[in-house]
Amino acid sequence: MLNLGSNGFDKGVFKTPSLVFQLSNLCTYLIIKISKVSTNLSQLKSSMASTTPDANQNQESTKNSIIFRSVKTLAESPELTSVPSSYTFATNPDDELVTDPDDDDPIPVIDYSLLFTGTPDQRAKTIHDLGRACEEWGFFMVINHSVPKSLMEKMVDQVFAFFNLKEEDKQEYAGNKNVTDPIRYGTSFNASMDRVKFWRDFIKIIVHPEFHSPDKPPAFRDTCEEYCRKTRELGRELLKGISESLGLEADYIDRTMNLDHGLQIIAANLYSPCPQPDLAMGMPPHSDHGLLNLLIQNGVCGLQVLHNKKWINVSSAPNRFLVLVSDHLEILSNGKYKSVVHRAVVSNKATRISLATVIAPSLDTVVEPASELTDNQTNPAAYVGMKHKDYMELQRTNHLYGKSVLNQVKI
Ligand code: OGA
Ligand code: NI
Repeated sequence: MLNLGSNGFDKGVFKTPSLVFQLSNLCTYLIIKISKVSTNLSQLKSSMASTTPDANQNQESTKNSIIFRSVKTLAESPELTSVPSSYTFATNPDDELVTDPDDDDPIPVIDYSLLFTGTPDQRAKTIHDLGRACEEWGFFMVINHSVPKSLMEKMVDQVFAFFNLKEEDKQEYAGNKNVTDPIRYGTSFNASMDRVKFWRDFIKIIVHPEFHSPDKPPAFRDTCEEYCRKTRELGRELLKGISESLGLEADYIDRTMNLDHGLQIIAANLYSPCPQPDLAMGMPPHSDHGLLNLLIQNGVCGLQVLHNKKWINVSSAPNRFLVLVSDHLEILSNGKYKSVVHRAVVSNKATRISLATVIAPSLDTVVEPASELTDNQTNPAAYVGMKHKDYMELQRTNHLYGKSVLNQVKI
């Protein structure tokens, strides 16, 4: 069932849990439990004292809830000089090859404008390039797109402003756990399942079919609504090109995935500066649910994609979208297009913001390989059909590493 080797990271901490691994995690857990109150608290006490919400609460539970409120609070603690043990990975740096893109095999770049204003040849070539990018990389960058640069910048500014709110204001959205809760603020990756914590704070907002937004900061709602409308349009148009590249009618994916009622989520990620960036990870290797993830960032790099078993650093010029093929496009294409395994590394120099926009089927859509792309003899369906919302629940309740969830629906 689990096929990690082919994804190229059967090494390090993400290998299938062995007994030793589980024992070492148990030890880590116990050490965290024991050291949490002593080491971490003494490091953090003074900086976090001001965030105590209610002095009359049980002191111990108050302390514990404060400790993991956000990485931002932790990172801003003046006493913090090293990464707490609960965030450290036991990866062997030699295990994983990290490189910049090769000149002979550059990250694909798609000129979106050619889908509309190009000559028939240019349009056909762009669709062909889209297909190749989805097949060989599961990742591409989009230039000359339809989202104004000023809106992208304004949205990133609003995300920054959100994370700079008082912790109490953000905590209003903490504790929401269901995948269909409209707004979720939190820290780490898949907090209830994570064995180690990740150096990341996030807010996830469902923005379609119903639009939601936090009330603060004041300009967030309007900026976000416009940004989401524009990115939804971009995603749907890209999916038309991708449908054509699969030899399907242009509106095939839009129609069968019910994108008029499609789920769109934005996930804003904050990666605070980390004193020992080699010891912590912003987000572990994973692939995303949904069809496409359109990612922008604040000019600070940190995204790495797995390509031909190497981690490739993604550096991006402003005004580009980094587009990740996600699990439901892999399922729909019966494995022809691959969802890309990616991760986020952290830095000790700068705060990084990334904003992911997930374009996904409606929650009730059963996603299965397109019957037009399968036949019983030579190309049988390689994935079982599953409702999108059940797939999301599977993600939430599983330990995520690489394509572990997708592999569970593989036949
Ligand atoms: C995500 C994601 C990577 C990044 O939000 O799903 O993988 O660079 N983000 O922040
Ligand atoms: Ni992701």
